[in-house]
Amino acid sequence: MNIMITGGCGYIGSHVTISLEKLGHNITIYDNFSNSSKEQIKRLNLICTSNIDYICADITDTKSLKNIFKDKKIEAVVHMAGLKYVGDSESDPISYYENNVTGTINLLNAMNECGIKNLVFSSSATVYGEPEYLPIDENHSTSPISVYGRTKLYVENILKDLSLSDPDWSIVCLRYFNPAGAHPSGFIGEEITSKSENLFPTIGKVLSGIMPSLKVYGKDYQTHDGTGIRDYIHVLDLSEGHAMSVEYVNNNKGIENINLGRGHGYSVLEVIKSFEKITEKKIPYEFGEYRSGDISSSFADVTKAKQILGWTATRDLDDMCKSMWYYYQN
Ligand code: UD1
Repeated sequence: MNIMITGGCGYIGSHVTISLEKLGHNITIYDNFSNSSKEQIKRLNLICTSNIDYICADITDTKSLKNIFKDKKIEAVVHMAGLKYVGDSESDPISYYENNVTGTINLLNAMNECGIKNLVFSSSATVYGEPEYLPIDENHSTSPISVYGRTKLYVENILKDLSLSDPDWSIVCLRYFNPAGAHPSGFIGEEITSKSENLFPTIGKVLSGIMPSLKVYGKDYQTHDGTGIRDYIHVLDLSEGHAMSVEYVNNNKGIENINLGRGHGYSVLEVIKSFEKITEKKIPYEFGEYRSGDISSSFADVTKAKQILGWTATRDLDDMCKSMWYYYQN
């Protein structure tokens, strides 16, 4: 198939590109490089066997989108372009609504006009907010606690209305839990210089000496060791979930929200321990205050992904730490 990946040069987008290309699809990356660089295209071409086409443009540019849809005979879109930093979303909500919500509406308009109605949308488990029960299934209520999370939920709702209005659309919204790790080649991963304050990149900064130590947010959660528990999922498992979702939207109609996680949580201390084992380095850390907006535990019920997509994550925490460490060493 001819597939457009918006935001295909980002951390997750580039892995999705690799997984789809491996299955023989023709990929066109549509990216404004606001949070990535063209160097990523070079790296992708070192891994992929066919040449990866890219367009440097913004999803708010409807004319450019329509031109590419026609020129490349695009049949499906994986929509990953968007802003993703929770802290920034609180201080600059307008940019987040403009990029994530208005940008998606532009994309949908262009797709509609060109008769392209197969879409995989990059959503997030952050749409659930504070868990009412665990594991979290797709019927769990949605109540995101950040602007970023609300942009994801608003788009999901827009997509639901679109699907109700036109039965020809086929949409999968993938609710990611906590993506981590890197491609085993060592060429592609989350940049060490990234603004991300997530656990994995922060540990990467400590291991690389960019930060002196890790602050563990809270030690008295109601968990087995007192630290927060999350469902970390290898970025390659996640990207394979996208590839199977593309196949699903190509063969089905309607809309589905699907969790992508491992269905198992790890605590912050367990992640530190795994990194220490893999790197044979001590990770200096200290306990700090709870981070505002943090929850105690979150992990996915992944039954639906297995039933609908035939997908299950196969890589474990050590694989995530190992691949990330290899990437940083490269
Ligand atoms: C965070 C965001 C969430 C977003 C997700 C995207 C917050 C409050 N939540 O989720 O909205 O969807 O990233 O990937 O920002 N931790 C530390 N020290 C650190 C960093 C993290 O102890 O320096 C702990 C956290 O308290 C948490 C765990 O590590 O228990 C994972 O944190 P993180 O990687 O930021 O992910 P989330 O909290 O799930």
